[in-house]
Amino acid sequence: MYIVQIASECAPVIKAGGLGDVVYGLSRELEMRGHTVELILPMYDCMRYDHIWGLHVAYENLSVPWYGGVIRCSVYCGWVYGRLCFFIQPHSQDKFFNQGRYYGCVDDNIRFAFFSKAALEFLLQSNKRPDVIHCHDWQTGLVPVMLFEIYKYQGMENQRVCYTIHNFKHQGLGGSDVLWATGLNREEYYFHYDRLGDNFNPFALNFMKGGIVYSNYVTTVSPHHAWEARCTEIGYGFGHTLHLYQDKFSGILNGIDYEVWNPESDRYIPHSYTKDDLTGKAKNKQALRERLLLREVDRPLVCFIGRLDEQKGVHLVHHAIYHTLQRSAQFVLLGSATEAGINDHFWHEKQFLNDNPDVHLELGFNEELSHLIYAGADLIVVPSNYEPCGLTQMIGFRYGAVPIVRGVGGLVNTVFDRDYDENHLPEARNGYVFYETDYAALESAMDRALDLWYDQPGEFRQCQQQGMHYDYSWNYPGKDYLEIYDRIRHK
Ligand code: ADP
Ligand code: GLC
Repeated sequence: MYIVQIASECAPVIKAGGLGDVVYGLSRELEMRGHTVELILPMYDCMRYDHIWGLHVAYENLSVPWYGGVIRCSVYCGWVYGRLCFFIQPHSQDKFFNQGRYYGCVDDNIRFAFFSKAALEFLLQSNKRPDVIHCHDWQTGLVPVMLFEIYKYQGMENQRVCYTIHNFKHQGLGGSDVLWATGLNREEYYFHYDRLGDNFNPFALNFMKGGIVYSNYVTTVSPHHAWEARCTEIGYGFGHTLHLYQDKFSGILNGIDYEVWNPESDRYIPHSYTKDDLTGKAKNKQALRERLLLREVDRPLVCFIGRLDEQKGVHLVHHAIYHTLQRSAQFVLLGSATEAGINDHFWHEKQFLNDNPDVHLELGFNEELSHLIYAGADLIVVPSNYEPCGLTQMIGFRYGAVPIVRGVGGLVNTVFDRDYDENHLPEARNGYVFYETDYAALESAMDRALDLWYDQPGEFRQCQQQGMHYDYSWNYPGKDYLEIYDRIRHK
């Protein structure tokens, strides 16, 4: 099968969070299964060019219709660890993707509407006719809309679209300018509730709604979150829409790339190890402490790695730091905040804790350091308010860092409480789960985990190994996606 993925991220070249990991990892899995995969991405000025090989101009002059005129683009082509990627760069340099950031620009909706349009024009003009186009999140929600309303009549009638929603909160809203820019035009038609009309605001177009309505199949990134999105407020207003389209909607649990995340061969960690021999892990813990200037003591090390965002339960992350210290353990945080208030809060906290040899707060995005933290930590906290899938607990498993998570979204599908999970045999339980959003709930789960580390080191090791035993690779989800592709291809 010939599959094209259109997305706003692909790790490690463009990565703000888990979306990048998923786009890369799923593509590699599909290729390993013998399929042809190509990726179309924006060419951001701030992406990691050092992870692209053989970058060259593949199409010098792509004309993208825009507001009745055209914007000319170059399409660059290069390999990201074996994946063939096409990067779209408008000739007018000051626009769209040259703003020093992936997201959070004032014109985000227009930037990604343009990207979606340019991706389709590129397929059309270069005569690429994939069997399946796989799009991700609000940024590419307009791809199926334009494909079935415009490009279908220009020779792209056999293409099918699978649309994956990684985060329902960010839906991409726009006004009629988006319609006039992209050539969709007919305002009355698209502002309708059954098409792109936002479920709350009658004067707004909703990109994600378009993705849901027009795609041949829609997924979100875990089975539990598929239920939450349909039946609870975590669908951010899409409950009814998803209910209407329930025949083409389901949750597929993400995988993680077992080549990228592999303690046996990870080039970012100094000591390799396996689940049968964790001596390398102890040495990595030492290396992590040395690097972050933490003191060397025989104590557990707890970590948090993630975006410092409301979604991630920042109030609990903050509390986890102090509770860890209270329990005489050590804490390492690696977090990136985009919201000024949260950012300031953690900078302040960092200064306050600066001289404490048992805690390190690293603010910013640092892929290399994240690997060493997973490898050195005993425990990882994921106290999210909501979590469509969550990759950090799965990476934690792979590196023998036992997760302490809040029981929401994909965390429910992956972490099984060592003391209380009645649906799993004791030998299949792999972490700690709490449910409420208050400090007491977090503390009690952390205490159970820390007590095990302090009082029953043998049992703790066994818990680590039980987690490492799970297969959270792309093996199963890869198969699931191929089944969906097959199904929609023959419709
Ligand atoms: P989300 O996509 O909501 O941010 P996930 O758990 O799905 O959360 O994925 C997060 C990914 O981003 C993981 O690969 C994690 O290691 C990585 N990550 C998050 N924050 C940082 C950071 N500050 N530095 C390095 N890697 C990070
Ligand atoms: C989103 C979600 C996260 C998920 C990731 C990859 O960013 O917040 O839960 O793991 O996408 O699908």
